[in-house]
Amino acid sequence: MRVLQAGRVALIPVDARNARELWEVLNAPDLRKYQDIPRVRAEEFERQVRARPKALRPAATGRFEWLLRAGEPERAVGWISLRVNERTPRVGEVGYSLLPESRGRGYASAALGAVIDEAFAAGELDELQACIVPENVASRAVLDRTGFREERLLRGGAVIRGRHVDVLLFTLTRASWMRARNGAVSAKPTRPV
Ligand SMILES: CC(C)(COP(=O)(O)OP(=O)(O)OC[C@H]1O[C@@H](n2cnc3c(N)ncnc32)[C@H](O)[C@@H]1OP(=O)(O)O)[C@@H](O)C(=O)NCCC(=O)NCCS
Repeated sequence: MRVLQAGRVALIPVDARNARELWEVLNAPDLRKYQDIPRVRAEEFERQVRARPKALRPAATGRFEWLLRAGEPERAVGWISLRVNERTPRVGEVGYSLLPESRGRGYASAALGAVIDEAFAAGELDELQACIVPENVASRAVLDRTGFREERLLRGGAVIRGRHVDVLLFTLTRASWMRARNGAVSAKPTRPV
């Protein structure tokens, strides 16, 4: 995996060296309201990170994750992940979070845009998915901004703090990503001759 730069936010691949920094972010208050973040000790988390795939290449499965760093001085502001299940190797699921004091600055949308490009360019994925609880308006806005479409409600589709909850499934297909990219390229002003 490589470092990605998305405007003012840097996406640093998570590995054994920075796993503890991510662990600290994961344990910040207010991140567990809309998502399930397992509570594990730092040492166990580092062990899990060491077992993850190292490169996002075609047909790779597992969890790929980046620590988000931004600000002056630069510090960890959140994380973003891409999970590819070996049972559905052409579908990736994205997840992201920002520490409360780093929200409202466009970091999550910029980071998700970079991960979308990286996931479709580096792998063989046909589709990206994201699931949100319906009341998570901030996350919905991130998905809207980055080209995801609301697909359907999955009843009891996620477990959050030990309870099954309904979630909305959002998808972005490779075809619509390509269309958006080609549109963006052809919309660029041409240089006067
Ligand atoms: C979901 C979450 C990451 C969204 O964070 P966010 O800060 O709203 O999203 P972004 O980083 O893309 O920032 C967008 C906001 O920054 C504003 N903004 C300010 N400066 C900006 C800039 N230079 N560029 C772009 N947007 C900017 C945008 O207007 C937008 O605000 P608005 O929604 O009020 O219009 C955050 O709410 C969070 O971490 N929640 C808790 C965990 C969670 O729910 N995770 C998702 C589980 S599915």
